[in-house]
Amino acid sequence: MTAVSDQLSSLAEIAAQFPTLRNRSFGGQPVAYLDSAATSQTPDPVIEAMTSYYTHTRASIHRGVYPLAAEATDLYEGARSRIASWLGSTVQETIFAANVTAAINMVAYTWGRQNVHRGDLVVLTEMEHHSNIVPWQLLCQDREAELAYVPVLDDGSLDLDVLDGLLARGPRLVGLVHVSNVLGTVNPVAEIARRAHAAGAVVLVDGAQAVPQMPVWLPDLDVDFYGWTGHKAYGPTGIGVLHGRRELLEEMPPFIGGGHMIRTVAANESTWTDLPWKFEAGTSQIAEALGLGAAVDWIRGVGIEAIRAHVQALVAETIERLSTVPGLAIQGPAGASERGALVSFTLDGAHPHDVADILGSRGVCVRAGHHCAQPLMRRLGVPATTRASFAVHNSVAEVDRLFEGLMAVRSTLQLD
Ligand SMILES: Cc1ncc(COP(=O)(O)O)c(C=O)c1O
Repeated sequence: MTAVSDQLSSLAEIAAQFPTLRNRSFGGQPVAYLDSAATSQTPDPVIEAMTSYYTHTRASIHRGVYPLAAEATDLYEGARSRIASWLGSTVQETIFAANVTAAINMVAYTWGRQNVHRGDLVVLTEMEHHSNIVPWQLLCQDREAELAYVPVLDDGSLDLDVLDGLLARGPRLVGLVHVSNVLGTVNPVAEIARRAHAAGAVVLVDGAQAVPQMPVWLPDLDVDFYGWTGHKAYGPTGIGVLHGRRELLEEMPPFIGGGHMIRTVAANESTWTDLPWKFEAGTSQIAEALGLGAAVDWIRGVGIEAIRAHVQALVAETIERLSTVPGLAIQGPAGASERGALVSFTLDGAHPHDVADILGSRGVCVRAGHHCAQPLMRRLGVPATTRASFAVHNSVAEVDRLFEGLMAVRSTLQLD
């Protein structure tokens, strides 16, 4: 496993940029943070960008005409512009939201209420996070519309034959996750979008686990809505992004009403301002947007291709090592190239929470639970899994610690 350090020659230098990893140690060694799929660590430049706003450029944006306010506005809109161009989007089509959950809700409450009617069909997949299920349930219940799910096959991929059958019924929307937060599956988004568009459906993608870990170029995917969340992408909490196709965003009513999103307000009605601000009512997450802009700059500096190669090598190493642990079953696709940056597993005779607890007591941070994907847990026939997930700062030594920790779990719980 020399590949990892070859691809990122300065792995130690990169890891040193994450303050929580610098500041927290466990038994003389740093914590092995293997939970970036839940939330990533934050590199120094992101914190500095936010601190600099609070210490040097703090003012409200868009409304002020004095130089300080103009500077803050330029920083905020500059961050949007860099985020948009990184993914091949435009500023008008790049809307800030609180997180991807809010981004998806925005579509369900605006586009959904305008376009989904009684008897219509909305198609999701069995591997969705609750964030891309519950908003559509609320919509379909409200509209008396139907919700159908594309099944997950045993190899962790989607059953595209069933998708085709559902598409033949002319659904209004197909919603799917780009990279599953449980299986790691990388879905063939461009192909599914092509088929869905041919059937007249709008396509929404949850990119929460894709944007931080692999190159995403929206023009190639050609979807209508693509949401992601800043706190999994080395950015701050409290900010996410919805990219939407301009023609659809223009047609959609606003989500939340208030200041900043209007052009005129009369006693009984209002008109809306231009994109993207029509969907950004109230004072924006200014520091958070600056932080997310800095996160994108930071990722670009390291190189998303190098990050992808690095985490893929770690996933390959993890699959190889964990496959030798007796009683351990890995969920999802067999190969690292078909996966995002995570490996979920179950261990015979051990509850995932106990596994995570024992690993945690050894400074190895992993996630256990249903991962906000209860329909998928039911499909897999397990109540929960343990999940190790990776980011650019992780090393093969941390995979070793995971492996050794799992052997310790086996002996602590007397699984032999
Ligand atoms: C695939 C996926 N979608 C959506 C979410 C929800 O993200 P957030 O809570 O930032 O909206 C997560 C993270 O938990 C996720 O992994």
